[in-house]
Amino acid sequence: MSTPTNLRIPGPTPCPPDVLQAAAGEMINHRGPEFAELLDRLTVGIQPFFGTDQEVLIISASGTGAMEAAIVNTLSPHDKVLCITVGSFGDRFGTIAERYGADVTRSDIEWGDAATPELVAELIQQDDYDALLITHNETSTGVTNPIGEIARAVRAVADPLIIVDAVSSLGSIEMRMDDWGLDAVVTASQKGWLSPPGIAMAALSERGWAAAETSTMPSFYFDLSTHKDYADRGQPPWTPALPTLYAMDAAIPLLAAEGPEAIFARHHRFASWTRAAAKSLGLELLAEDRYASDTVTAVQVPDGITGPTVSRRLREEHNVVIAGGQGKLAPSIWRIGHLGYLDESEFTACFAALQQALVAEGFSPAEGAVIPGIDD
Ligand SMILES: Cc1ncc(COP(=O)(O)O)c(C=O)c1O
Repeated sequence: MSTPTNLRIPGPTPCPPDVLQAAAGEMINHRGPEFAELLDRLTVGIQPFFGTDQEVLIISASGTGAMEAAIVNTLSPHDKVLCITVGSFGDRFGTIAERYGADVTRSDIEWGDAATPELVAELIQQDDYDALLITHNETSTGVTNPIGEIARAVRAVADPLIIVDAVSSLGSIEMRMDDWGLDAVVTASQKGWLSPPGIAMAALSERGWAAAETSTMPSFYFDLSTHKDYADRGQPPWTPALPTLYAMDAAIPLLAAEGPEAIFARHHRFASWTRAAAKSLGLELLAEDRYASDTVTAVQVPDGITGPTVSRRLREEHNVVIAGGQGKLAPSIWRIGHLGYLDESEFTACFAALQQALVAEGFSPAEGAVIPGIDD
């Protein structure tokens, strides 16, 4: 077998060998008792990471499916929605709501900046908004919005539904859905969950479920009431992505054994190291340190360097794959993922390769640069 790629993109992430092996298991009847037990184990195992007492629903879809589910189950056409966007995933959230007929107003925040509690509290008072859409961790810019503080500031002045895309944060960065008063929270298996893509997860607050009763946006596949009815009987409404569920069944005990606090600390350590390593090569980061994400770092492509050329060198000459920017940031940043299953040697190898690729492209501040050790 060829050497596995050093995959340093912000999802899908590499998975532990036992998890990959579990995904290869034989199929089962998704309407039988084995599935009911599997679903129960997963639901119970996932819940602590959401920080909620509400049932977490498991949907066969990617994260975008769960974003759509959160919107179509809680909103109605013509609802007034404030979309706090700090990057391309925030924009996508607003676009989904628009597609279903919501009246969406987007914040005007520079990509690379975070939304502040003060700004969101000010914006939410500018109209009679029914809902606030917000990304917890904006993967396209490597920025984490301080969601707990934002929710508190919003609740002090207004009462919208707060709908959160936590696709690239949940399981890696603290989420306290109930304490923070969030009404819908979604994530996906290929991010912090040590698992392959294919499963999305969604939880609604009591207010979220009450909104679901009056919501008139159309839904079928993503009708969460249907998902909940079936889940209460130990079944999925539609044929589920069994291999990914098997993988999660192997991954969640690993996450539970490590514990949320240790997992968050580990992500913070790798994120801090990644930022320090980039700076040691003379590179600049897109996000300010105080809002920099613990799951993905956006590194600025230096003047005179072509981002995709360096990415290609990394891939072809070093077997390292990093992500480029998205949308308007496509040519000007690289993104390095540090979420899920993290192996120190892959990070040091990634930065050693980046150093060589940059030097090969004529970028010299790297000369004499010492990439720090991960525990320095
Ligand atoms: C913050 C965020 N939201 C939404 C998505 C979309 O998820 P998916 O690609 O699983 O549909 C992603 C994927 O990278 C993401 O990082």
